[in-house]
Amino acid sequence: MTKTLKGLGAALALALPFVAQSPVHAADDALIQRGAYLAKLGDCVACHSVPHGKPFAGGLPMNTPMGKIYTTNITPDPDTGIGRYTEEDFARALREGVAKDGHNLYPAMPYPSYAKVNDDDVKAMYAYFMSGVAPVQQTNRESDIAWPLNMRWPLKLWNVVFLEKGIYQDKPGKDVAWNRGAYIIQGLGHCGSCHTPRGIAFQEMALDESGSAFLTGAALDGWFAANLTGEHNVGLGRWSDADLTAFLKTGANAHASAFGSMTSVTNNSTQAANDTDIAAMTRYLKSLPPAGGTGAPPYSYDARATKVSLTRPANDPGARVYAAYCMHCHSVDGRGFAPLLAPLAGNPNVLEHDASSLINVTLNGTGDLVIQGIPAPYPMPKYAPVLTDKQIADVLTFIRAGWNNGAPAVSVEDVAKLRKSTQAAR
Ligand code: HEC
Ligand code: HEC
Ligand code: HEC
Repeated sequence: MTKTLKGLGAALALALPFVAQSPVHAADDALIQRGAYLAKLGDCVACHSVPHGKPFAGGLPMNTPMGKIYTTNITPDPDTGIGRYTEEDFARALREGVAKDGHNLYPAMPYPSYAKVNDDDVKAMYAYFMSGVAPVQQTNRESDIAWPLNMRWPLKLWNVVFLEKGIYQDKPGKDVAWNRGAYIIQGLGHCGSCHTPRGIAFQEMALDESGSAFLTGAALDGWFAANLTGEHNVGLGRWSDADLTAFLKTGANAHASAFGSMTSVTNNSTQAANDTDIAAMTRYLKSLPPAGGTGAPPYSYDARATKVSLTRPANDPGARVYAAYCMHCHSVDGRGFAPLLAPLAGNPNVLEHDASSLINVTLNGTGDLVIQGIPAPYPMPKYAPVLTDKQIADVLTFIRAGWNNGAPAVSVEDVAKLRKSTQAAR
């Protein structure tokens, strides 16, 4: 009896997939899966979830010039999420920054980038958010912005001035990979929301390569998002296509590794991109001419002077800290053990004028980079509890001068400032 039932169960299990997958459902599944992939390219989960919280249920605090706001619940829960959104409502929120009830969203939601997303991709993501994401009942949290600054109508004016409507149009004369890369980088990838400097109204100074400020690097939330143009020292000028591909896939290469806010981008988004899309992003980024930078002569590696000060560090306080706390991982020659342990010699982040990222990573270490489920084996430790502001300024000044890096000194005041602001944010 039991045996027969088991047999029946097995037969049913075999038969069921065929019953469930009528052509219509199969098409839906494919659409939902494509939507899930696109949502990864858009990194929706990074903002619309809190660490260890339910995916897409919102609640993550975000800093704006006026105060903190909280991301919203975009699960299909009808009461607290976006379950009642039609596809048109969803498209309008994504591309125009307007919620279903008509209120304007703050541009902390990167709709100025998502404005370029085409109808097919919006449709696929809508299918995913309605049918592929589990509903979570979690009420949205009000912003901390006080009246009258919390009024949202000025955002309508902001949109008139700064929102460029219209989906991405292929640029004639450019190949398929270039256009695909441009579409992802400018649109769903919203790379410019961190990597492009912002103007006085919090607007990105350029939304594509036609503006000279596009992806030239910017400070945001205590990190400096690197220059991604072909600039030779602080940008990607010295990176081969293979270097850039490796960084996007694994968060590290011979030049640098992902840390700070780039860690979550790597964990949730870029590593999930398929090979065609990674190649397209590489193609597009590597086509950007040099822009920004510090005007320093092109970097060339030289270890001599640094080696001497490291063998006799007595008179150099920075070399002393380096020898005691950093050298076993980043090594005497400053080349680390890339890609496992980041190099400091010639590293674009080290050569960058703005030292925020270096100070922040030394104070606070890095969140784990997780590549294909495997956390980085030797994450950068946090030194806030171990080293004084002076010691951190000294060691970073040493690193910025070392191995011919030629970058300016780091001041004690800058370290103190970041220690305070990053600890307040915890
Ligand atoms: C950089 C952070 C960030 C990313 C990435 C992001 N969002 Fe948002 N999103 C926000 C914030 C912040 C709000 C709320 C803004 C407000 O309250 O004014 C929001 C609001 C929304 C809303 C309006 C919901 C409502 O009813 O309030 C929708 C829909 C939405 N996002 C969808 C998405 C989708 C889909 C993606 C990925 C393609 C995405 N978001 C990626 C920050 C982000
Ligand atoms: C939430 C902010 C944020 C977003 C969004 C973001 N980045 Fe980054 N990115 C950073 C920060 C901060 C750094 C500097 C730290 C580091 O090197 O990892 C960085 C570094 C990088 C680097 C290494 C550059 C170097 O010289 O070390 C590359 C390449 C990069 N990002 C590509 C991208 C691409 C492509 C996108 C869009 C798909 C993107 N980033 C989106 C914050 C961001
Ligand atoms: C246990 C090994 C280890 C030690 C010790 C260590 N680091 Fe790191 N450091 C790393 C790793 C790994 C990264 C790459 C970031 C990541 O992916 O987690 C890194 C990154 C950095 C970066 C950013 C460069 C980049 O592009 O990733 C700087 C700057 C840095 N470390 C400075 C220091 C200083 C200063 C000290 C000593 C006070 C130090 N590190 C000690 C492992 C270490």
